[in-house]
Amino acid sequence: MTATLTPVLSRTWGEDRSWTREVYERFDGYQGLRAALAKAPDEVTQIVKNSELRGRGGAGFPTGNKWGFIPQGGDKPVYLVVNADESEPGTCKDIPLMMASPHELVEGAIIASYAIRATHAFIYVRGEVVHVLRRVQAAVQEAYDAGYAGTDILGSGYDLEIIVHAGAGAYICGEETALLDSLEGRRGQPRLRPPFPAIAGLYASPTVINNVESIASVPSILRHGAKWFTDQGTDNDDPRKRSKGMTLYSLSGHVMRPGQYEGPMGLTLRELLDLSGGVREGHELKFWTPGGSSTPILTDEHLDVPLSYEGIAAAGSMLGTKALQVFDETTCVVRAVLRWTEFYAHESCGKCTPCREGTFWLVQILRRLELGDGTDEDLEKLLDISDNILGRAFCALGDGATSPITSSLQYFRDEYVAHFEHGGCPFDPARATLFATSQGARGR
Ligand SMILES: Cc1cc2nc3c(=O)[nH]c(=O)nc-3n(C[C@H](O)[C@H](O)[C@H](O)COP(=O)(O)O)c2cc1C
Ligand code: SF4
Repeated sequence: MTATLTPVLSRTWGEDRSWTREVYERFDGYQGLRAALAKAPDEVTQIVKNSELRGRGGAGFPTGNKWGFIPQGGDKPVYLVVNADESEPGTCKDIPLMMASPHELVEGAIIASYAIRATHAFIYVRGEVVHVLRRVQAAVQEAYDAGYAGTDILGSGYDLEIIVHAGAGAYICGEETALLDSLEGRRGQPRLRPPFPAIAGLYASPTVINNVESIASVPSILRHGAKWFTDQGTDNDDPRKRSKGMTLYSLSGHVMRPGQYEGPMGLTLRELLDLSGGVREGHELKFWTPGGSSTPILTDEHLDVPLSYEGIAAAGSMLGTKALQVFDETTCVVRAVLRWTEFYAHESCGKCTPCREGTFWLVQILRRLELGDGTDEDLEKLLDISDNILGRAFCALGDGATSPITSSLQYFRDEYVAHFEHGGCPFDPARATLFATSQGARGR
C-alpha cells in the first residue's frame, strides 16, 4: 500500500514566496490565533492537551501537559522558548520548516505564549544558519506590522514581545537547559534538575521550552480542533497507541528523492520509500536510523515497523526526530559509526566524566578498528564503555552517543570482526560488496 501524504505544516511550501505573510494568510494563516484569542488561555491549553500532541524535539513529551505545569498567578514573568537549534546528524526538519513557512512557527509561538500567559517569547536559532535567522526575523517583523505581536494583539488586550536569538553553533545548546544558560549569556552546559524549567527556567522564571515543529503544529489544532488531530495517526481504539497527528518525516541518504514527507504518525519506512522512489537504483537497504544519529540503528527487518513512539520502542529503538537516514549496502557500518562518534566526542560539553572521557576513548577504539588494528577485546571494551555512559551521564547527549555503537554491534558484529581479520576495511566500495578483498585495505 502506498501511504497518502497529508500536507498541513508543508501546505504552502510549493507556493511562490511561501515564507511571506501574504501567502500564509491565503492558506488560513493566523486564523488559529484568532480562534485562540476568542478563548481563555486555559481553554487553549486544554485543547492542546486533548489533541495529544507530543513534543517533536525527540523525547515525545505531551505538549499540553508541559504547558499545564506552568504555575500561574505568581510574581515572576513566564517565558516561552522555542528550541530551533536543530543540530543532530540527520535531523533536518525545523530548518526547512522555518525557511518555507516561518509564519507557522511565529503564529504557534504567539498562541502558546497566550496559553501559558507569557509576555516574552524567545526563538533560539542555531547559529550557523544565518539565512534561517533572517527569514524568521523577517516573519516576526511582519507579524508585528500586522498587529499579531506587540501590544494589544488584535484588540485582545494581550501583549507579547518576540525575540529571535542566534546561538553560536554547539549541539549541546539544543539540550533545553544548556539552551537556557546560553540564552542567558553563559557557556551552554546542562543544568541539574530539579528544579525543572517549568518552575525555574529562563532567568529562574517559569519557562516552557518546545521544539519548532511542536509549536508549528499548534495553529492547525486551533483551526480544526483537537479531534481532527487525534483522528490522524495511530489507532484511536487502542490506548497503547498514542502517536497522534501529522508530522514531518525527513528522508536522507541513499534514497532516490530525499526530503521532507508530511504524513500521519505511524507510517512505515517501506511506505515512505515507496513515496520517495525507493533506495537508489540498483542498491538495497542495509541500515537506517529512525530519528537521527542518537537513535539505535535498525535494518531491513524493520521496514514495516510503524514510525510511532510505541512501534519504534518495541523494535528496540526510539522515534526521536523522525530523521530517517538511509544507508545502502555500499556503506561500511564501522566507518559510519566512527563518524557519528567523532561528532559526539567533539560536541561533548565536558561537564561530566562518563561522557567527556568515554566518548574520547570510544573514538580511539573505533579508529583502531576501522584501520584493521582492533581485537575482539576492543569490541567488549566498546560495550563496556557504552554501558558506563548510558544512564550515568549528566544529560542525554552521552546516552545518545552509545546508541550507534551498541546497535551496530547487535546487528553487524561480523563486519567489525571482518575489519581486524582482514587487517583493514574489508569493503570494496567500487564493487559495493562487503568482504570483497582477501587482502584488506592496506594490502597486507
Ligand atoms: C544533546 C541534545 C540536543 C538536543 N537538541 C535539540 C534541538 O536541536 N531541538 C530540539 O527541539 N530539541 C533538542 N533536544 C531536546 C530538548 O532537550 C527538549 O527535549 C526539546 O526541545 C523539548 O521540546 P518538545 O517537548 O517540543 O519536543 C536536544 C536534547 C539533547 C540531549
Ligand atoms: S553527557 Fe556529555 S554533553 Fe551532557 S553534560 Fe555530560 S559531558 Fe556534557
